[in-house]
Amino acid sequence: MATAVPPAASRIAVVTGASGGIGAATARRLAEAGYRVVLTARRKDRIEALAEELTAAGHSATAYPLDVTDRAAVDEFATAFRTVGVLVNNAGGALGADPVATGDPQDWRTMYETNVIGTLNLTQALLPKLDASGDGTVVVVSSTAGHATYEGGAGYVAAKHGAHVLAETLRLEIVGRPVRVIEIAPGMVKTEEFALTRFGGDAEKAARVYEGVAEPLTADDVADTVAWAVTRPPHVNIDLLVVRPRAQASNTKVHRETR
Ligand SMILES: NC(=O)c1ccc[n+]([C@@H]2O[C@H](COP(=O)([O-])OP(=O)(O)OC[C@H]3O[C@@H](n4cnc5c(N)ncnc54)[C@H](OP(=O)(O)O)[C@@H]3O)[C@@H](O)[C@H]2O)c1
Repeated sequence: MATAVPPAASRIAVVTGASGGIGAATARRLAEAGYRVVLTARRKDRIEALAEELTAAGHSATAYPLDVTDRAAVDEFATAFRTVGVLVNNAGGALGADPVATGDPQDWRTMYETNVIGTLNLTQALLPKLDASGDGTVVVVSSTAGHATYEGGAGYVAAKHGAHVLAETLRLEIVGRPVRVIEIAPGMVKTEEFALTRFGGDAEKAARVYEGVAEPLTADDVADTVAWAVTRPPHVNIDLLVVRPRAQASNTKVHRETR
């Protein structure tokens, strides 16, 4: 029988990038599943508002402003816990969609720093606490970009391949310890900010990403898969879950309805 609620000793769930999109939806889902959620992101106002909303609904939620690329701040954050049950490495995203020939190296660096080093920072800082819980789970929200490339995507694809490799290697290295490593690789998800951030605030370009796609995934669709994977019994490790909308067969094969 699957246990929906984890053992009491391991009930803190830390979610990075919880100020919107998939991270906020995941925090909601995990709170509903009985976890004491700790919301982190750089935008304090947003995570505080979500923590208040969840607390008002009878859940346990706290906000902790954190930049995942700031190692000293991450180490300081980790001292707040004796044990942690779940770490969801979700903070990240894409910058630009230029071809390799003209891509901005600074965008590539930022994507690597956030998607890979950010995940590394949190994972290294909290691994002892996950171990100490006796039943810990590390989730890496990578992307289908972590598994195949597409034109104009190289910088993001390279970073998400890095996140994928981190998850896969960590699973090998800690086998035998009481910590699972789960990778969730979503395809096209329509969140408020992902494409907007990618295109530097250009709403028209951002809208084009989803143009004609009947039903892109929602943040909650992805959060649902995270919560499902995390709430399997402790001996069940969902190594990798690829989730796409029905209209998307691959990173480059998307059905778009034309009017
Ligand atoms: N949307 C998609 O189509 C899609 C598909 C596959 C995978 N993903 C991945 O899923 C994750 C969430 O995506 P989303 O669609 O929910 O995007 P989003 O709405 O843009 O959310 C990104 C989150 O990451 C946080 N973040 C960014 N840089 C950070 C930093 N240096 N330190 C701490 N937090 C940081 C942001 O918060 P602050 O700005 O407040 O710090 C925000 O909460 C990302 O890793 C993304 O790459 C998205």
